[in-house]
Amino acid sequence: MTFLFNSDARRGAVFADAFAKELPDIPFAIDAGTVDPDTVRYLITWTVPENLARYRNLEVLFSIGAGVDQFRLEAVPGKVKIVRMVEEGIVRMMQEYVTLAVLALHRNLPAYLAQQRAGEWRDVLQLQAGSRRIGVLGLGQLGQAVLDRLKPFGFPLAGWSRSPRQIEGVTCHHGEIGLERMLMASDILICLLPLTEDTRSFLDADLFAKLPEGAALIHTGRGPQLDHAALVTALDRDRLSAAMIDVTDPEPLPADHPFWSHPKIILTPHVASVTQPVTAARAVIDNIRRHRAGVEPIGLVDRSRGY
Ligand code: NDP
Ligand code: OXD
Repeated sequence: MTFLFNSDARRGAVFADAFAKELPDIPFAIDAGTVDPDTVRYLITWTVPENLARYRNLEVLFSIGAGVDQFRLEAVPGKVKIVRMVEEGIVRMMQEYVTLAVLALHRNLPAYLAQQRAGEWRDVLQLQAGSRRIGVLGLGQLGQAVLDRLKPFGFPLAGWSRSPRQIEGVTCHHGEIGLERMLMASDILICLLPLTEDTRSFLDADLFAKLPEGAALIHTGRGPQLDHAALVTALDRDRLSAAMIDVTDPEPLPADHPFWSHPKIILTPHVASVTQPVTAARAVIDNIRRHRAGVEPIGLVDRSRGY
């Protein structure tokens, strides 16, 4: 039985080390060309390889990232478990990024950066944290972790998910009506939804129209969830005040895309959070142990929901 690692060599070396120590009975391979495909029981990768069918005895397909939208789920045989990345490094980085973004938007950083470029010394009306309402779309591992990290600042916190949730200190919403309620009370909206057919183009003109006048957006989900033109229109008409965008469609953006130079947009190149090899290897090893013991892996993807 073999564990096949199909990602970057730097992370591969860390995984190889951890496997040698923790699961020495499972041969670890980085080069698919050196492996008998029939021995491959576990594969970790970012995208599903074209030749997946050759791994006839594959049991678990691990995503090296938290999302699995880059997998064509229908290309993966039904008997293969698909597992997304649930590990503390990715969570910590997302907490940092969203905290950075919330504070930047709360403290009017995009406006001050524009003023600096224009040589203007002028203060912008500053709301107190208790009056800046935060709404998070998606209450999974990342949405919940981000809300937890924001608690000490004193922002009123809300979140929205598909199924009902209860989180201390957070007003939880679900379903269509819950979404409307949360949107109308979100001065800063954060998208941490997985990309599925239900969430494609979710952040569109209709949704922006439901937010309070002057609300701001943080987008760290997936590029195809955002209607780029609708965002630019909403910002240009002052319907929204600013946005911090980490994911786009396509990535990278073409050189003439309006996001590059829009004065109300802060753009980062899909770096909000990155899988950290030491903690990720630990999480994958733990999941293999669970799988071998007949226990469901953490982060098992529900194919019918697409996440
Ligand atoms: P989880 O699967 O843990 O959580 C997903 C959450 O979204 C759940 O609360 C789920 O609801 C909710 N959700 C999904 N579909 C819907 C829907 N149609 N309506 C309402 N709620 C919905 O995912 P993670 O928190 O681990 O990750 C979220 C996403 O973050 C990833 O899929 C990826 O796209 C993105 N990401 C971005 C990174 C970056 O660097 N920019 C890095 C890592 C991840 P319920 O609880 O009811 O199931
Ligand atoms: C992920 C990502 O899904 O990096 O982990 O976006």
